[in-house]
Amino acid sequence: MKESEIKKLYKNKLNELKKHNKNYFDKNSPTISDKDYDKIKLDVFDLEKKYTFLKSTYSPSISLGYPPSKNFVKSNHRVKMLSLSNAFNKDDLLNFEKRIYNYLNQKIELEYSVEPKIDGISASLTYKNGMLLIGTSRGDGVTGEVITENLKTINDIPHVIKDKDFPSDIDIRGEVFIKKSDFENLKSNFANPRNAASGSLRQKNSEQTKKIPLNFVAYTFGFFKNKNIKKQSEFLSCLKKWGFKVSEHNKVFKTINDLEIFHKKFEKYRFDLEYDVDGLVYKINSLELQNRLGFTANSPRWAIAHKFSADSAYSQITEINIQVGRTGALTPVARIKPVNIGGVIVSNATLHNEDEIIRKDIRVGDTVKIERAGDVIPHVILVDLKKRDRKSKKFIFPKNCPSCGSETIKELNKVTKKYDAVRRCINEGYDCEKIAIEKIKHFISKDAMNIDGLGKKVVENFWDLNLIRFPQDIYNFNYSKISKLEGWGELSVSNLKYSIDQSKKVSFDRFLYAIGIRHIGIENAKLIAEYTKSIKNFMGYVKKNKINEFLNIDGIGDTQIKSLNKFFNNKLNYSVFEKLSSILSISDIKLNKNGKLLNNTFMFTGKLSGMSRAEAKSLIEKNSGSVVSSINKKLKYLIIGEKPTNRKVEQARDLGINILSQKDWLDLLN
Ligand code: IVH
Repeated sequence: MKESEIKKLYKNKLNELKKHNKNYFDKNSPTISDKDYDKIKLDVFDLEKKYTFLKSTYSPSISLGYPPSKNFVKSNHRVKMLSLSNAFNKDDLLNFEKRIYNYLNQKIELEYSVEPKIDGISASLTYKNGMLLIGTSRGDGVTGEVITENLKTINDIPHVIKDKDFPSDIDIRGEVFIKKSDFENLKSNFANPRNAASGSLRQKNSEQTKKIPLNFVAYTFGFFKNKNIKKQSEFLSCLKKWGFKVSEHNKVFKTINDLEIFHKKFEKYRFDLEYDVDGLVYKINSLELQNRLGFTANSPRWAIAHKFSADSAYSQITEINIQVGRTGALTPVARIKPVNIGGVIVSNATLHNEDEIIRKDIRVGDTVKIERAGDVIPHVILVDLKKRDRKSKKFIFPKNCPSCGSETIKELNKVTKKYDAVRRCINEGYDCEKIAIEKIKHFISKDAMNIDGLGKKVVENFWDLNLIRFPQDIYNFNYSKISKLEGWGELSVSNLKYSIDQSKKVSFDRFLYAIGIRHIGIENAKLIAEYTKSIKNFMGYVKKNKINEFLNIDGIGDTQIKSLNKFFNNKLNYSVFEKLSSILSISDIKLNKNGKLLNNTFMFTGKLSGMSRAEAKSLIEKNSGSVVSSINKKLKYLIIGEKPTNRKVEQARDLGINILSQKDWLDLLN
């Protein structure tokens, strides 16, 4: 058979699958038997095995198993469901502990609750007066899908809890997973147990969920007015007493050394477990300390996931492409012959940056070792030089942007006085095609505008079809045109329209993050939004050329100011910002207005005892006050720690600003 004929046959098989998936999952009315359906899928697998050039994102070997339903009702989590940052070695753990000491500004003896990190899907269960009322998936961490009926099919999840000590209002959180042995029977449908659990949990019909044996292990709480429980390990014991399953491998340790020893032991032992575990989770055991440490934008400061070493495999590099990121970074990506690494088919691996390619002398045609750990992007570990072709040539990194042809540069880091390892396109705007596409992908992403009907692939597709050039085009889509495109139907178009409409209401900090200014991540966007309060005020600063005033904000420095100025000096960026602000309904920042410190501004000088500046700032903000970093008339209190800057104290005195010791200030709070 000719290659074109094979491709055609493959496409037809995939189209058949698509049709039947739609009937089954969206319409709930299959038109063929399961057996016939499996037969088509097997044909697809066979073709892919035989002809390695066949590739499609719709292949059941990639988008494995049952596509989940998009039709769940959404619900906001009362307490966000965050993820964990990762540690891979002892240094990462020591840094984690150091960050904690820094934040607390004190070196106290710590204790860790150690729990296996089961590789499943997290879920949150809301119990009121002992009754399971709502069960949700994690979703984007802020909003989850209501999947109560599906969760109720899991035997490990109690529907009613009679224990008299069970809190009257609590969210119990844990992991839904499938056992390795049960997965054996489902192998043909899913890539790995995690996908199987996810697919099963998100079925429209809970009868389908019932068919796949799911388990639940509980490990934390969301909303909970805790009065008595002092430690995470104590909470785990309570969970058990209340009737939940908890891991029988939970432990308590005190030192990083002990954590390391247990990790080494468990890493080997994990293969004997009934379920997949991809690391250990370490949580500061004291709930009071957890509360003090709080969260960064995406993860708690008081916990970390210590991953097990990655799965790896050898493959050959067929091509090296240069990707252009949202901020102009040129990232080399190796296209490799597809290889199965730990249950996932990998066909790309990142090469990080130009320096990394030079350092490892990575070339097209090389046989390389690829590593993949959990959700981390696969990367090249080493080149097998014995297998290198004698005629192979060094890879020459392009000096111009492969997308727009602009000059590229390596920036000089002022602090380290070294050039950045990353080369960048100097065109930070919409006139570089690849940057524009990436900016749009960022705009729609979960933490930004969260338009879930519009994935990355769809953005690329719409770009090729000339349906989108700027973020604002999203709000002017021609839906009748979209509904005629391949792969789109009435339901998917109405889902898309719904999620776009939903995104029109957005808070100013989210919008500022979504617009994608370099160095303005979620945290910085929040700081600026809280300082300026509204998009209107913000634009006032921009128009009057007063962005420099943001230096007043604790946490905003020269790098951010330079980047903001550069962004708004670009006419296209400016017009995108203005157009979006007229289309969207961007709400002002409403800070907690019930705190004791409302309308009070504070500034610190000198070292505080027993807490870091970061913690002090968060304490003030929790009580509705604000922190500034320069002395002016608007400042109400200057808090003086050890070895203050005398100039600041004098300046404050001259302006008649109240001067407080750390103790005075804490007294003011309580
Ligand atoms: S605590 C904010 N404990 O890991 C605290 N998570 O990357 C986050 N996970 O989404 C959750 N075992 O799906 C916690 N013992 C454990 C866990 C665990 C597995 C998963 C969970 C979470 C992800 C975080």
